[in-house]
Order: sequence, then C-alpha cells, then structure tokens
Amino acid sequence: MNESAKLELIMQSLERASERLGDITHLVFKKYYEKFPDARRDFNELSNGNVDALEGEMVERVIYTIMTWFESPGEIEIQVSGSAAHHKDTLNINEVSYIGLIVCVIDAIKSTIPHDKILEFDALASLEFDICNIVNSQFIN
Ligand code: HEM
Repeated sequence: MNESAKLELIMQSLERASERLGDITHLVFKKYYEKFPDARRDFNELSNGNVDALEGEMVERVIYTIMTWFESPGEIEIQVSGSAAHHKDTLNINEVSYIGLIVCVIDAIKSTIPHDKILEFDALASLEFDICNIVNSQFIN
C-alpha cells in the first residue's frame, strides 16, 4: 500500500473517532494514568498549574503527528526525533511515559474502527510501529 492510500485510511479513522468521541483528551488520560501512574507527576510538575491545558496540547500534538505521518514523512520524522530528544533531555520524561501516551491516543482511535475495516487497522499499526521505533532510537542514545 502506498503512502497516500495509508493517509486516506488514517484520515477516515481520525474523522470517525472525532465524530464518535469528540475531544478524546479525557478518555485518553483516564487510560494513560491507569496504565502509567508515574506520568501524572510529570504532568503536574510541568504544567504550571494548568494540567488540563498541557494534557489537551500533548494529545493534539500526537494527533498532528498521526495526521502528517504519511503526508510528509521525512519532515515529521525529523520533528518527532527532535521532540522526543527534547522531552528526554530537557523535560526529563522517560521513554515508557512518552511512548505510552502515543499508544493510548492510537488505542482510542482504534476503538472506533469497525472490525471489518482491516486496512484501517493495518495503516494505524504500521504508523504506530514507525513512530515508536523513531522515538525509541532517541531514548536509547
Ligand atoms: C509523557 C508525557 C508528556 C509530557 C509530560 C509532555 C510535556 C510537555 C511540555 C511541558 C512541553 C512544553 C515545554 C517545552 O517545550 O519545553 C511540551 C512540548 C511539546 N510536546 Fe510534549 N509532553 C509529553 C508527551 C508528548 C508526546 C507523546 C508528544 C508527541 C508525540 C509531544 C509533543 C510535544 C511537542 C511537539 C512540543 C513542542 C516542543 C517540542 O517540539 O518538543 N509531547 N511537552
């Protein structure tokens, strides 16, 4: 499958998720803090007293990454690498918390895909694999 076909599938998934779930921030963070309780401390400490705003902004950033992944792959790859390195080196975020948020956003989107839309699951899975690999390469260095 080429990149533009994958982009089309991802956009379908995102549109459906937005129609069915609206703003996914609350849903994502409920699961995220259940799975990664230590991340709550990072959000509290780094949010300057406005946790909701930081949570919303990070979910938006992840969605933006998903939307642009197959649209301008080289460019977004550089952005994701730079951002992962910044979160690790300057914000002191650990890899599990960082990747965990990406996975929780993708899970929320996946939860709205009908079971027979296999290609949408495939496109999201390939994107998840690529993003996590790039993030991982920043955290292990
Ligand atoms: C582990 C949870 C995370 C926390 C606590 C967190 C926290 C923050 C904070 C406090 C900032 C603003 C401060 C600064 O720029 O120095 C920021 C910026 C940013 N965050 Fe996050 N973040 C998290 C995860 C993510 C994820 C998963 C992504 C996207 C995949 C992301 C994307 C960004 C981007 C693009 C910026 C703008 C600056 C940059 O490029 O690094 N963040 N984050």
